[in-house]
Amino acid sequence: MGIQSEKVKELIKLREQARLGGGQKRIDSQHQKGKYTARERIAMLLDEGSFEELDMFVTHRCTNFGMEKSVFLGDGIVTGYGTVNGRLVYVYAQDFTVFGGSLSETLAQKICKVMDQAMKVGAPVIGINDSGGARIQEGVNALAGYAEIFQRNILASGVVPQISAIFGPCAGGAVYSPALTDFNIMTKGSSYMFLTGPKVVKTVTGEDVTQEDLGGASVHSTKSGVAHFAVESEEEGIEVVKHLLSFIPQNNLEEAPAIECSDPVDRLEDSLNEIIPDNPNRAYDMYEVIGAIVDDGEFLEIHKNYAANIIVGFARFNGMSVGIVANQPKVLAGVLDINASRKAARFVRFCDAFNIPLVTLVDVPGFLPGTGQEYGGVILHGAKLLYAYGEATVPKVTVTLRKSYGGAYCVMSSKHLRGDMNYAWPSAEIAVMGPAGAIEVLYSKEAATAENPAEFIAAKEKEYKDAFANPFNAAKYGYIDDVIEPRNTRFRIIRSLQQLATKKLTNPAKKHDNLPL
Ligand code: HXC
Repeated sequence: MGIQSEKVKELIKLREQARLGGGQKRIDSQHQKGKYTARERIAMLLDEGSFEELDMFVTHRCTNFGMEKSVFLGDGIVTGYGTVNGRLVYVYAQDFTVFGGSLSETLAQKICKVMDQAMKVGAPVIGINDSGGARIQEGVNALAGYAEIFQRNILASGVVPQISAIFGPCAGGAVYSPALTDFNIMTKGSSYMFLTGPKVVKTVTGEDVTQEDLGGASVHSTKSGVAHFAVESEEEGIEVVKHLLSFIPQNNLEEAPAIECSDPVDRLEDSLNEIIPDNPNRAYDMYEVIGAIVDDGEFLEIHKNYAANIIVGFARFNGMSVGIVANQPKVLAGVLDINASRKAARFVRFCDAFNIPLVTLVDVPGFLPGTGQEYGGVILHGAKLLYAYGEATVPKVTVTLRKSYGGAYCVMSSKHLRGDMNYAWPSAEIAVMGPAGAIEVLYSKEAATAENPAEFIAAKEKEYKDAFANPFNAAKYGYIDDVIEPRNTRFRIIRSLQQLATKKLTNPAKKHDNLPL
């Protein structure tokens, strides 16, 4: 055998060694926990045969605590690029079989390399997290590595999409990289995210809490909003990543991919003419409206179980990707509160950053009153949503289905926040507040001295409703561009989006904004 083939043999051997990560025993242990390895995860994500691995021969340089005796090729992470449904993505997957996927200086450099490359070519970055955090033996070098990643997450934000899948531990400051990315997906039962674990919590606060109750997928997808998706399995998590990618462009200079649409653009949905209940205090399900108007009823909901009084997610109209924001009358009457405002604001900003038009469906009785909300800063959080809509320059199509009261009228993509096309159904009611509240403010003194207070109030409420419980007042001023038949909604939205496809609007030049955080 010639020297050349000897060297090739050596290369193949080294590659095999690298592919084993921390060794077969630790791979088996990973499988026993019901988890896949880093390489298996990447294989599930990328198109078959498309993966190009980088830095397979990188090893750590640490000599503290005898670390020089424990060296693994690749050093606890698999990085590279490949395609998802033919589109380029950069990927990294932490390898729990090597020092628990803990982050070393060199491991961080591998992540930074793919992030830098993704920024140069303009392609999404997918990070799969499964790690014990900073590699303890490396001290400040591990912390420096994290900070280098965070810096890149920040610079990439709004330039290339960043998606994090959390398939195992993600603790300590490590949580901040996923937090800086656009979407977080967590597996139920096998992933957790927290700044400080249960032991530290017990020491500091005396609280007894399990890992799952402190930072499991359910907690973060319902209570904190840190996770956008809680999935049953890693397979489902990978499918969510692919589904998300299908709706979004490669970078902020491109449009989302349009797909062939077989759902007729002029499909009339007669059921919508009947969907609003006669009693304005009765609820209906906004999901039915969304399902009826978008292409083939396909809707990828974000933050499904968090702040369910507002619905956000991706859908398509005539094959064009849009972000949908819709009040949900079935939950808290669709009121805006702190969490709903934060949830929708973040989504609106993502769509605007990545050139995805916004379709807003309005049925909102206002902002939630009370000390809980005021003390929690609803003024600032509500302002986030206001800000997000007001700064957005993508096409904005709004349909008011029923209520649109008070500040919430202004916030929900109104004409005054540069809404491009503002439609209303005939059932729309646009006013400063609902009839009961308005009459209480205007006529409480008169009502108290009236011969029959109940009759007096009822008469005044009727007068108020006759004046405001319709869309024509707003249409009179041009704040509503047209009042449409509900069954035509799909067609009218598609027409608007086609019309707005070449929309150009820019905000004043500035260093950056000062969003009310
Ligand atoms: C070095 C680590 C490690 C770490 C795990 N390992 N975490 N090595 N640094 N941070 C190693 C273990 O020694 C073990 O090595 C292997 O990974 C698997 O770990 P196990 O403990 O056997 O696995 P498991 O029982 O599944 O427990 C996983 C775990 C636990 C819950 C993540 O390992 C753990 O608590 N690790 C420490 C977590 C932590 O406190 N990290 C620091 C957070 S602070 P062998 O050789 O046996 O396979 C932080 C600051 C970042 O990250 C700040 C950024 C700004």
